[in-house]
Amino acid sequence: MRDYEPYFTQDGSIGLYSYSDKDVFHSKFGALTEAWEKFVIPSELSDIDKNNIRVLDICYGIGYNTKALMSFYIQNYKINKKIFLKKIFIKTYNIVSICVDKLFNKKQKKLSLSNDTIDSNKKMFIDCLEINSELVELSPFFKTIKTADEIFNKFIPPIFDCFEFYNNLKLSFNKFYTNIRLKNRNEINELLDIKFNEMKIDKEYKLHPYVNYILINSLSKYLSENYPSKDLKKILSESKNRRFFDKTLIKYAKFNQFWGYNLSIYTVLSVFLHNIYYYYLSFRDKNVNFKTAESLFNVNFYINDARKTILNLNEQYDCMFLDAFTYTKAPQLWSVEFIAELYKKLSPTGVLLTYSNSVQVRNTLLENKFYVGKIYNEKLNKFVGTIASKDKSKIKYPLNSYEIGLCNTKAGIPYHDPNLSFSKKDILELREYEYRHSNLMSSSKYIKTRGK
Ligand SMILES: C[S@@+](CC[C@H](N)C(=O)[O-])C[C@H]1O[C@@H](n2cnc3c(N)ncnc32)[C@H](O)[C@@H]1O
Repeated sequence: MRDYEPYFTQDGSIGLYSYSDKDVFHSKFGALTEAWEKFVIPSELSDIDKNNIRVLDICYGIGYNTKALMSFYIQNYKINKKIFLKKIFIKTYNIVSICVDKLFNKKQKKLSLSNDTIDSNKKMFIDCLEINSELVELSPFFKTIKTADEIFNKFIPPIFDCFEFYNNLKLSFNKFYTNIRLKNRNEINELLDIKFNEMKIDKEYKLHPYVNYILINSLSKYLSENYPSKDLKKILSESKNRRFFDKTLIKYAKFNQFWGYNLSIYTVLSVFLHNIYYYYLSFRDKNVNFKTAESLFNVNFYINDARKTILNLNEQYDCMFLDAFTYTKAPQLWSVEFIAELYKKLSPTGVLLTYSNSVQVRNTLLENKFYVGKIYNEKLNKFVGTIASKDKSKIKYPLNSYEIGLCNTKAGIPYHDPNLSFSKKDILELREYEYRHSNLMSSSKYIKTRGK
């Protein structure tokens, strides 16, 4: 993480601060919470009645959107009872036949789990687009840690809640815990708009325990013997980074690739038993075991500028997550031309989701003939993003006439990136030129004349 500083967000998941972009990747509410509330829940993918669901995660970063989606899918996956019973039968038959082999010294035929036995009726194909390979390679190792509250309550049980000193102590602990080792503490806190007296720890959403293992396996397939790479091993083993990474996942990856370490017998054994446990024995999740969960997904990675990758993708997607940096910081991924490519690749009933509420982004979607609406968050009772589709029925909260009018002001002037090859500077300058020469009404005048 040469260019990044990790920090804890309020739901215990880890966010990243980028030195070069001078920006944070995730909001203070929690990287994971945001992924669920702005992308996974509004996608309503569980309602799709299709065998192969295709998802495009644009700007994968360290993968929270994909991870939350996979967790949601595993949790809601209903096992096919017939297949489940067939599997139990095959397992039992094989165990009995091994005993018979031993007892009578006679080789019995073993049954195997054919693909159709493992495969569910539905499979999810997730294509992840990201420009930075280091982030993608690191993504499975980040742990979802305990929140400061959970740690505090372990030592001092909350029976003292009524005392002010208890709450003050808790607040100081939160402050200390959230800030340890942040080099750019003030800048990060400012970007996150953290005020510690308002600090509220919220941990409603969980990552399913299989998700990171599945991602390690997918990345191993994608990068073959180069995963984890030398550089990655170094980052994972640096003491300053250790508390952000999950030890068991690192051991699992080591075991998978048998990287040049001198593995102790204990490590080999513990990882071996761990794998056996997760693959075949764990009933922690009554519905799905690891092999079944893994067979639900096909995760692919495209490490390149998303503008290049999108031109080479030939699929029709049921859902797209657009999680680029804000439009002024990454204008390349908000241009009319880039969104036009997304339009081409979205299925007729698919949805495109983004956290952005900006007038300019919404107008770019409208210019591309999308139906555009708002993402409503019940818990916060506010709109937290934008949804676009070719299918009008997918839009529950369409833009009202006031909001559409606002899109037609100067504020709505979109970015252009002919041939999808302009630099950030050129795209910003082109818009600036158009803005200066435009006859459209300014947004402030529009707001004054129309009122809110
Ligand atoms: C706000 S972060 C995304 C956070 C991410 N969804 C997560 O869960 O961690 C934006 C990401 O866009 C990536 N990015 C920036 N420009 C890009 C481009 N042209 N193509 C693909 N990815 C890009 C950055 O490297 C960064 O990881």
